[in-house]
Amino acid sequence: ETITAVVPAAGIGSRMAADRPKQYLPVAGKTILEHTVARLLSHSAISRVVIAISPTDPYFQALPLADDPRITVVNGGAERADSVFAGLAAIDDAQSWVLVHDAARPCVRLADLDKLITAALHSDSGAILAAPVRDTMKRGNGCQGIAETVCRNDLWHALTPQMFRVQQLRDSLKHALAQGAVITDEASALEFCGLQPRLVPGRADNLKVTQPEDLALAEFYIQQLMK
Ligand code: CTP
Ligand code: MG
Repeated sequence: ETITAVVPAAGIGSRMAADRPKQYLPVAGKTILEHTVARLLSHSAISRVVIAISPTDPYFQALPLADDPRITVVNGGAERADSVFAGLAAIDDAQSWVLVHDAARPCVRLADLDKLITAALHSDSGAILAAPVRDTMKRGNGCQGIAETVCRNDLWHALTPQMFRVQQLRDSLKHALAQGAVITDEASALEFCGLQPRLVPGRADNLKVTQPEDLALAEFYIQQLMK
């Protein structure tokens, strides 16, 4: 199988509050986006990466990635799901597989990519990497009180990558977005359509770089990976 990766990289990184979108911050010698794309292309089944960037992005063109023949760039949209949908439009073969991975997750390991790809190829509706919740989970009451403790058995953090048939993800996203569903990952679009992607247990160190304190952690994990 050949798999295309779609990397949404059109966010502004408001929680990071840096001088540029977080995917362009340097970590361990290159930008987060470059680490992320390199991780994906290091897998033998992934031959092409579609990156969705902001139409006003001044940073991407300066990267060596801009001249890599395996990379296609598209304009992202207002929400993450819009960026992913735009990326899917650049894939010709609707029967092929797509693996969607956040630009902000540079620490994903090859072994987890392998597990996910194997699970997805054997699934009816794709698969996602996920990590079991570790902490006790509380639901708040909206004013700093505790409404309840949520049972954490079988409660998971949805990670990326998430892998689907191109046609199935396209149809699901289109329907879910048209119905005004809140879509914060790909699987939720398929779930909205009554489909059931598989959960694949993945490593918790596949973190999404979100806040300033995550940069040092990402640097540490990337250095481990490069050993
Ligand atoms: N993303 C995107 N298009 C958007 C919003 C987000 O492609 N309109 C991408 C981000 O670039 C990131 C991934 O989706 O790689 C996950 O989103 P998130 O971590 O929320 O990044 P940001 O939206 O940039 O950060 P924040 O929510 O703090 O502003
Ligand atoms: Mg965001």
